[in-house]
Amino acid sequence: MTEHVSKTGHTSKKAVVTAGTGGIGLETALGLARQGWDVTLVARDEGRGEAAVARVDEAAGRRAGRFVRADLSSLAETRRLGERLAGEGGLDLLVNNVGGMWTDRRENPEGIEASIALNHLSPYVLTEELLDALAAAAPSRIVNVTSSAIAAAQTVFEEAEPPGPHYGLAVTGRAKLAHLAYTLELAGRLEPRGVAVLAADPGAAATDNAAQMTIDILPPALRPHWEQIQQGVSAPVVAAATGPLAAATDPALEGRTGLVVGPAGTVDDTLLAFVTPELTESVRTWTAKLMATAGRPS
Ligand SMILES: NC(=O)c1ccc[n+]([C@@H]2O[C@H](COP(=O)([O-])OP(=O)(O)OC[C@H]3O[C@@H](n4cnc5c(N)ncnc54)[C@H](OP(=O)(O)O)[C@@H]3O)[C@@H](O)[C@H]2O)c1
Repeated sequence: MTEHVSKTGHTSKKAVVTAGTGGIGLETALGLARQGWDVTLVARDEGRGEAAVARVDEAAGRRAGRFVRADLSSLAETRRLGERLAGEGGLDLLVNNVGGMWTDRRENPEGIEASIALNHLSPYVLTEELLDALAAAAPSRIVNVTSSAIAAAQTVFEEAEPPGPHYGLAVTGRAKLAHLAYTLELAGRLEPRGVAVLAADPGAAATDNAAQMTIDILPPALRPHWEQIQQGVSAPVVAAATGPLAAATDPALEGRTGLVVGPAGTVDDTLLAFVTPELTESVRTWTAKLMATAGRPS
């Protein structure tokens, strides 16, 4: 664990929260600040960044926030961000909160379907860049924000995108499933280095991303459930930080790794059932292929 002593003698641990200037990421950052952490918020918009830093500072009662601009849908930009943060030394906590689900099919700047890029490849690239910084601060944690959309995933990883028409929930669920498989694999890899790797399901919440969803995100078979889903995404955002915050800070989780923390902030095995050794193997091959297609970003 690294402790950073400020000029005023205050000691704190360092966290990075991606997509930290709004939605679940901002609520997670505010919770960390209240618990004494220094928090770097990563997002695209400078104005929102400044406003979020002011809120983090206010929550901490001191200067605890910092904004770093990056478009995490670009793997090249994500890699540059990782290199910059890695150059700053030990990191106690990485919260890979960035993610998104859209009705229409979009592509990232490298031509990869956007929800795969944002929910899996971008946090993959950032995490790999920061492994040594996290190990230098051990015991440290990585928290990957997951989603119950996994239950709607097509578990086929032969092609870049799932077969058939584009349904936002299914495509995002598949990307989140891939990242959960990576999370569990990484947990085993990093255990000897003292870095815990956890997933956190925030549950549904009324964020900007949720507000733009239409019934067309759903495969036809799930459309009768649209009203129920809409009710879920009208839930207060602050409550959705419970899972990520518990995964990041709960002392009861010390020494534990490879777990999913559910919306209530407690260990919840529901999503683990979707990850098998065969699936993990095909996700590993699929990820390597996608990264090769994207090329090593310059
Ligand atoms: N909301 C839900 O119901 C729900 C349910 C289950 C799981 N989740 C998961 O929870 C996480 C957060 O979701 P959310 O609903 O809070 O999302 P959100 O509303 O899109 O989050 C907004 C934040 O994301 C930043 N952001 C968006 N695109 C970005 C990009 N390309 N690069 C960098 N920052 C970006 C925004 O800042 P800028 O616009 O300035 O970049 C802002 O800080 C995601 O992983 C999501 O899958 C959400």
